[in-house]
Amino acid sequence: MQKDIGEVLITETEIKRNVGELAERLAADYEHKGLTIIGILNGSLIFLSDLVRHIPFPVKIDTIRANTYIGTSTISKAETDIVNNISLNIKDEHVLIVDDILDTGKTLSRIVEVIRSHNPLSIKVCVLLNKAVRREVEIAPDYCCFEIENKFVVGYGLDFDNKYRNLPYIAVLGEFR
Ligand code: IMP
Ligand code: MG
Repeated sequence: MQKDIGEVLITETEIKRNVGELAERLAADYEHKGLTIIGILNGSLIFLSDLVRHIPFPVKIDTIRANTYIGTSTISKAETDIVNNISLNIKDEHVLIVDDILDTGKTLSRIVEVIRSHNPLSIKVCVLLNKAVRREVEIAPDYCCFEIENKFVVGYGLDFDNKYRNLPYIAVLGEFR
């Protein structure tokens, strides 16, 4: 697999450190409130599973899956279909939505709307990576492990053509993919 992979942008050690620090912030912010974490499939899987194991009180976990594509009605308008919705009742719960990366913001902003319709007490957004220069929809992460530049990255949950999610670090793709 290594021959497909270009420059390593974020090492396994750096990921461990920042995920641990972020979990400490979450623990402090939610300790006395309770927390329901909703992971966006499939990208959030690895990040979510490491993150929750650093949180020292019981949390509820659910997932949601969405597909974002360019709609046919208006050329530039993206549409997001919810493919698998949540199954927990989150009314009056504090909710944290977790994803791998905030890129254009289309997927996450739509998912925030869908979650809001379930009437939780609060909604915050937590991402491993923030690619702020790519933003098209106004949305900022409440919690973020790393700011990155405008490069397509894989590993630690992020894929290219559904591959490379299992890399323990984050890298740009090499030439021989
Ligand atoms: P958005 O709706 O443009 O913000 O799309 C976010 C989704 O695009 C993420 O959940 C990722 O699945 C995918 N994505 C965006 N940038 C990258 C990247 O650099 N590598 C892998 N997937 C990416
Ligand atoms: Mg993806």
